[in-house]
Amino acid sequence: MNAATLYVHVPFCVVKCGYCDFNSYADHDGASHDRFLHALDVELARTAPESPPSVFFGGGTPTFLDPQRFESLMRIVGRHVDLAACPEVSLEANPESVTREKAELAIDAGVNRFSIGAQTFQPERLKFLDRAHDAAGVERAFLALRDAGATNVSLDLMFGLPGETLEEWSADLARALSLGPDHMSCYNLTFEPGTKLEHAMRQGSVSPNEPEVDLEMFDHTRTELERHGSLAYEISNFARRGGPCRHNDHYWLQGDYAGVGPGAASHRAGERTTNLRVVERWAQAVESGAPAWGDREVLTPDQRAGEAIWLGLRRADGIDLAKAAARLSIDLEARFGRTIDGFVDDGLIRRSGGRIVLTDLGIRVADSVTQEFLQPL
Ligand SMILES: C[S@@+](CC[C@H](N)C(=O)[O-])C[C@H]1O[C@@H](n2cnc3c(N)ncnc32)[C@H](O)[C@@H]1O
Ligand code: SF4
Repeated sequence: MNAATLYVHVPFCVVKCGYCDFNSYADHDGASHDRFLHALDVELARTAPESPPSVFFGGGTPTFLDPQRFESLMRIVGRHVDLAACPEVSLEANPESVTREKAELAIDAGVNRFSIGAQTFQPERLKFLDRAHDAAGVERAFLALRDAGATNVSLDLMFGLPGETLEEWSADLARALSLGPDHMSCYNLTFEPGTKLEHAMRQGSVSPNEPEVDLEMFDHTRTELERHGSLAYEISNFARRGGPCRHNDHYWLQGDYAGVGPGAASHRAGERTTNLRVVERWAQAVESGAPAWGDREVLTPDQRAGEAIWLGLRRADGIDLAKAAARLSIDLEARFGRTIDGFVDDGLIRRSGGRIVLTDLGIRVADSVTQEFLQPL
């Protein structure tokens, strides 16, 4: 649990989707991609963890790089980390740019888990989201990965799109399940501040769904995926044959991680840094030997304890209070016992041995329950 994992952020995308607040740019310039790859090599030489238990290539869109540059990405990371020896190496793959060739390159380099951003199969909604692919593209991408030999493929979907009905979401889920994914992530669309989508909402041209509609979709997701043998090991994540994503689980358990690439976050024992977000500025800092981070935060024991519960409650088996207390050297019962008991009385949290877990009722209002633990003293 203590060995640091590695996150590699590739900040380029074919288009910038209107709902997305990740650090990503619709930058098609090969020179920018080369600059990024060069700086990544330098940053990894400085900060790559020795033997990370997991590596995650995310973005942005790692598969947007052309085949030669994609191969360079794999080679560069493989120079600093023994990918073949790493138990879990994940790659985010987008339908419009993942090909069998890139999948084979990735697998040869040590990638053993893929995550395809499908979002929805409804043509009008794909357009609304600015996605650069159609529904058939998701299926093509999935089959290309399988043809290349990928045995662990996850699909990302979003529900609660403006005006979406339960029937439409149910059809999306069914179409995703018909592909036989090994893992699924299903997220309720959020209107992230600063995005085109949020701007449209403020202008009044788009309205979010009624919360009850989204809740119905959330309930349906859990019931339907469980019926198909998927374990809801986290609020938005469902494991089938592929098992839980270790990389994300490590994050929810407050493990250390090193993030490389523009805007990537790193965490070491309560110190959290976030790299400069603009590619050029990040590359310049890295190449000149200056710190790559733009923000640095040292969490107080109280903040770490609150985050331990906030993150831990998202997991199906919750959080072991005594273990977390020992790890963080703070008495969690003394600090949060009353808040926990209040939620227990309301039927939102249950105590089980030394653990606390969200009840079925609590899962439906998870955000408001977990937020409560982030309140300062
Ligand atoms: C790092 S993001 C994008 C990965 C990849 N570039 C793609 O487009 O699929 C990972 C996932 O987060 C989810 N996501 C991104 N923005 C979201 C939002 N505003 N609300 C809910 N889910 C979101 C999407 O399902 C997405 O596939
Ligand atoms: S959702 Fe994915 S493809 Fe779209 S802008 Fe964000 S990172 Fe890029």
